[in-house]
Amino acid sequence: MGGGSNSIGLFFEFLGDAGVRMIGVEAGGRSIRLGDHAARFQGGSKGVLHGTFSYVLQDDHGQVANTHSVSAGLDYPSVGPEHALLRDSGRVEYTSADDNESLEAFHLLSRLEGIMPALESSHAVAECLRHQGSGELIVINLSGRGDKDVETVRDLLE
Ligand SMILES: Cc1ncc(COP(=O)(O)O)c(C=O)c1O
Repeated sequence: MGGGSNSIGLFFEFLGDAGVRMIGVEAGGRSIRLGDHAARFQGGSKGVLHGTFSYVLQDDHGQVANTHSVSAGLDYPSVGPEHALLRDSGRVEYTSADDNESLEAFHLLSRLEGIMPALESSHAVAECLRHQGSGELIVINLSGRGDKDVETVRDLLE
């Protein structure tokens, strides 16, 4: 999840269905240190950014923190307020996947299925891998293609 519009599009239809567990995945970046990730629920606190009250990565003075993610689309210090509500109500769980896990997921889905996921979507694939063998039926919101990311991945491999 970046701002969260992709994921809310999938979550919305299932909010009333208690049989569906939903998980949003934020960017864990390179470490849990402020400035090294974009995991607003894990490392942020309540605040206002762009006129919206939600969770924000910020310092003790309310200054918005720098963020990092291997994926440009997740590299954002706040999150849509509807997700903040869903998180606080407990309806949706929010986790994070770090850069390395997401890159591994990128390679795995490319190799196994011939589907190259966007690095943003690779975070969701990384979360899915944690549920391997659980017997759960899982739907992944594969929000985009990884063609746009091949140069980033190649540079990281080098
Ligand atoms: C392919 C892809 N997936 C997901 C996202 C994140 O989307 P959202 O801001 O809706 O969470 C982006 C953002 O640029 C994206 O490019």
